[in-house]
Amino acid sequence: MQTTSEISSLRSQIKAWRQAGLSIAFVPTMGNLHEGHFSLVDKAKTLADKVVVSIFVNPMQFGANEDLDAYPRTLKEDQSGLSERGADYLFTPTVDTIYPNGLDAQSYVDVPGVSMGYCGGSRPGHFRGVATVVTKLFNLVQPDIACFGEKDFQQLQVIKTMVRDLAIPVEVVGVPTQRDVNGLALSSRNGYLSEAQKQQATILFKTLHWVKEQIITGNRDFAALEAQAIAHIQEQGMRSDYFSVAERNTLKAAKSDDTELVILAAAFLDKVRLIDNLALDCK
Ligand code: PAF
Repeated sequence: MQTTSEISSLRSQIKAWRQAGLSIAFVPTMGNLHEGHFSLVDKAKTLADKVVVSIFVNPMQFGANEDLDAYPRTLKEDQSGLSERGADYLFTPTVDTIYPNGLDAQSYVDVPGVSMGYCGGSRPGHFRGVATVVTKLFNLVQPDIACFGEKDFQQLQVIKTMVRDLAIPVEVVGVPTQRDVNGLALSSRNGYLSEAQKQQATILFKTLHWVKEQIITGNRDFAALEAQAIAHIQEQGMRSDYFSVAERNTLKAAKSDDTELVILAAAFLDKVRLIDNLALDCK
C-alpha cells in the first residue's frame, strides 16, 4: 500500500486509476485505527476496485477545550493494519496542506438542520469542521463511494444531507457499528479507558437496548423513557450529555407516529465522552 502526504501524488494516482476505468471507494479517518475502521475498509473493498484511506486529525472539528493535541497518532500501526486489510492507498496530508491559509481564512461548509442539537449542540462548530474537511477530501480523492461508521450517526446524516444538498457525486454508505463482546461500541476514545471503565461504559449500550425494547413493546412516551434512561446512566456513574429518541432521517425529536427511529446517546465517563446509538423500525 502506497502512502503519500502530497496532493500531487494523490491526484496522479487517482487520474491513472480513472484512465484505467477503475472505481474508487474512500474511507476518511483520523487514524488510531481499530476494528471499526477496518470494517469500513472491508466494506469499501466490496464496493469498488480501489480503496483510498485518509488519515488526518482535523483541527477544524475540535473545540478549543477538546483533545486535539492528545489525540493518538499511531501511523506505523495504522499503515500495517491497512496493508493487511488490503487498502490500496493512504493519504496523510499535513494541516498546512489542508488549510494552507490557516483555519480563520478557510471557506467552510455548514449543514443546517441535522447538524443542530445532540453532538452539534454539545460541540459547537464540530460539524462545520467535519463537513468542510470531508468536502475537501472528496474533492481531492474524487471517489465514487465513501464509507462512514454508523456509530457517528449524526455525522453520517450530516454528510448524507451535505452530499444531497450540494449535488456532490459521491454515494455515501453507512457501515454498522462494531462492538466488543460486552456491547461497548468500538471507538478511538476507548483507549483512554481502563478495563474496569470499559466494563462500566457498557451501561450506555445496555440503556439504549432497554429503551429500544420498551419502544418495540409499545411504549411511546419518549420523554419519560429519555428521563429514565438519563437517570439510570447517572446512577451507574456516568454523566449523561444527551439521550434522545429521534426520527432517523431528520433527527428531529421523535413523534409517536414516526416509524423510522434512532436512539442517540452521549455520556462522559470521567473526562472521556462516549457516543452510541441504536436504530429501530416501528410498525
Ligand atoms: O469520523 C471521523 O473520523 C472524522 O469525523 C472524519 C469523518 C474522518 C472527518 O475528519
